[in-house]
Amino acid sequence: MKKINAAITGVYGALPEYVLTNEELSKMVDTTDEWIMTRIGIKERRILKDPNTATSDIGSEAVMGLLKKTNTSPDEIDLLICATVTPDMQFPATANIISDKVGIKNAFSYDLNAGCSGFVYALATASKFIETGAYKKVIVVGAEKMSSIVDYTNRSTCPIFGDGAGAILLEPNTEGMGIQDMILQSDGVGRIHLHQKAGGSLKPASHETVDAKEHFIYQEGQPVFKWAVSKMADVSVEIMKRNNMTSDDIAWLVPHQANLRIIEAVASRMKLDPAKVMINIREFGNTTSATIPLCLWQWENQLKKGDNLILSSFGAGFTWGSIYIKWAY
Ligand code: UT7
Repeated sequence: MKKINAAITGVYGALPEYVLTNEELSKMVDTTDEWIMTRIGIKERRILKDPNTATSDIGSEAVMGLLKKTNTSPDEIDLLICATVTPDMQFPATANIISDKVGIKNAFSYDLNAGCSGFVYALATASKFIETGAYKKVIVVGAEKMSSIVDYTNRSTCPIFGDGAGAILLEPNTEGMGIQDMILQSDGVGRIHLHQKAGGSLKPASHETVDAKEHFIYQEGQPVFKWAVSKMADVSVEIMKRNNMTSDDIAWLVPHQANLRIIEAVASRMKLDPAKVMINIREFGNTTSATIPLCLWQWENQLKKGDNLILSSFGAGFTWGSIYIKWAY
């Protein structure tokens, strides 16, 4: 019997209409377009403005678009995994809500939280359900309403994040295309540098936690930056080496979009031509679990069957990883 690989067979993205520019941010906090562009590389980000819209709404838009584009009926989906750090509620899973909103009835669904590595971890997890032959059509959606946990009075974090969602369809492939290899790692010591202080079982919500702004993102930028550069580059280089690839063999690096300087450092360690790196941080900022599928969606027209792609991420946990894919269409 031929080996079954899990291959991405469709991709779709969804972004809110509202554009929050550096100019607007510089009226809210003491910052400048020049600082944000030089230190992070972001010009603008998209924000879900309507207070009645949540992560599941932007996630559903991406999944709905994916189903339509790939001519797939919701009934055919076996499993949906939603990667997110901004679920609609603590429970039930946002994946359950998205499935309900788009009419997916014959599937099981659950959320996966791995910080900014959520999409990479979810794709890795989903691929195993396909490779065993047990499931035929799996959706992975990375969806975030980061604006719901960003403190727009804190200049060190508010320029970074944006809202959005990206979804992919995963199906069996017996031609050798699809996911070839993966390296996933985590180290919980990193939690001190990047977390949300309150709202979990450690510190449930109270008047005090709200007053102390403990429901917003807490980040110590510099240690996170250092870890991100070294760990993202380590796994990207390692996956190349163990698959006997040089930079010439790689068509695209699809990096998590946290900081343009991190992306450039990773590409440089891989000795990769900058033209082979997908970068959309300038327009959308860091959409956490959505950055990588949004890149795939934007660059889809330039991808060719057989292209070697390296997906690479780093995020809260700390979590990091890379996946090597042979593009299937
Ligand atoms: O996706 C999840 C993983 N997250 C990441 O990968 C993020 C990694 N970290 C980073 O990208 C960067 O550390 C940041 C973008 C968060 C910060 O950049 P930095 O170059 O590390 O700046 P810094 O925090 O060391 O701050 C340098 C200076 C400080 O001023 P002083 O103390 O030197 O006077 C900050 O107060 O820049 C100041 N600063 C700002 N100035 C203008 C911090 N934020 C701003 C701002 N505008 N928005």
